[in-house]
Amino acid sequence: MTKIASVHGRRVWDSRGRPTVEAEVILASGAVGRAIAPAGASMGTGEAADLRDGGTTFEGLDVVKAVANVDGEIAAALRGRDASDQAAVDDALIALDGTAQKKRLGGNAVIAVSMAVLHAAAADAGMPLFAHLAKGRPMRIPVPEIQIFGGGAHAGRRVDVQDFLVMCPSARSFAEALDRTAEVYHAARRLLRETGRTQGVADEGGHWPAFATNEEGLDLLVQSIEKAGYTPGDEVHIALDIAASDFGRNGRYRLGLEKRELDSDAMCEMMVRWVERYPILSIEDPLAEDDPEGFRKFTAAVGHRVQVVGDDLLVTDPDRVTDAARRKLVNCALIKPNQIGTITQTLAALEAANAGKISAIVSARSGETEDTTIAHLAVGWNAGQFKVGSITRGERTAKWNEMLRLEERLAGKAVFAGWSALPVVRN
Ligand code: PGA
Ligand code: ZN
Repeated sequence: MTKIASVHGRRVWDSRGRPTVEAEVILASGAVGRAIAPAGASMGTGEAADLRDGGTTFEGLDVVKAVANVDGEIAAALRGRDASDQAAVDDALIALDGTAQKKRLGGNAVIAVSMAVLHAAAADAGMPLFAHLAKGRPMRIPVPEIQIFGGGAHAGRRVDVQDFLVMCPSARSFAEALDRTAEVYHAARRLLRETGRTQGVADEGGHWPAFATNEEGLDLLVQSIEKAGYTPGDEVHIALDIAASDFGRNGRYRLGLEKRELDSDAMCEMMVRWVERYPILSIEDPLAEDDPEGFRKFTAAVGHRVQVVGDDLLVTDPDRVTDAARRKLVNCALIKPNQIGTITQTLAALEAANAGKISAIVSARSGETEDTTIAHLAVGWNAGQFKVGSITRGERTAKWNEMLRLEERLAGKAVFAGWSALPVVRN
């Protein structure tokens, strides 16, 4: 029994310069745990709801109320509880909030506290977080998905596709996958500059490009891989996050870049053509969250060779993951702790993916901080894949660099997941 002595909330800042919630948990033993809530921009409607103050301060996005909930109601409810019983702590948080989407206390307040309790329990056990989570079960070092170009809601909608990323499952290690990615990132920077298409840096650190079409982004990414000296589709693959809920509703998809509208079938056909033309290994949210039938058709068409990932569709909800796996809407689930709001529910979503025989990616949000909890979740829970944004900016490199440390520390005990992480056969 490792009793919680105190819970404290603190208002800190995220990578977009927005306030966010930090929670600090101190146990009777003196062990301390601390964690910070991230924040999304392209959010699914089914997500746990961040509590924001409204009004005019910081465009209504202040978190004074959420922080006060941590210091007040949450601290009072958790004091004296056993920190090593994460499920009971999380159940207490869910019951205290009393709403389906954690609207009353705030998903941001609840996830920060849930993660801080986890850290405190690991510290109390004298274990690094990943080992506390693994409990002796097998671990793998995950394959990273790394952004090269940012678009959609993360770059003023300059491009429809939200993330143009690369994956290197054929690398021998996580470190080598990062090495290849860095070469591609800088080759892309040079190419954009030479062709006058540089616009700046997107929210997750990727280049914010001036493309005329989405295909131009794909062409430029292939060229960047080649310029970096790698073979596209062998040493370096392409992954996309379409984030289609951002421009699609009721079966209509509005491509702002090309000023045309597609129905669900035409959207599918366009992406099937992309899969045929480009070395694409993974596509996230190809259709909108209100278009499960589109997901089903798309996965039926390409799921044998492409990972089809549900983000806004699944919102890290264990029931949705189970249902989507059963109906073959996707073959991979994105796992973001703050989408569901507690560590226990996040683990349940990952276990639902495992039980449904689909793959999983532990993912950051577009609004992030130096918090590295998710790197430990990805390894300790053996998720196989890890998505954190680009290879620049401290809130991103904090996680990549933590994974480098874990890979070094686990040498001989955990191998790089490579192709084993993917739900498709090596192509
Ligand atoms: P978000 O984007 O954090 O803005 O939701 C990340 C993603 O869509 O995967
Ligand atoms: Zn996404």
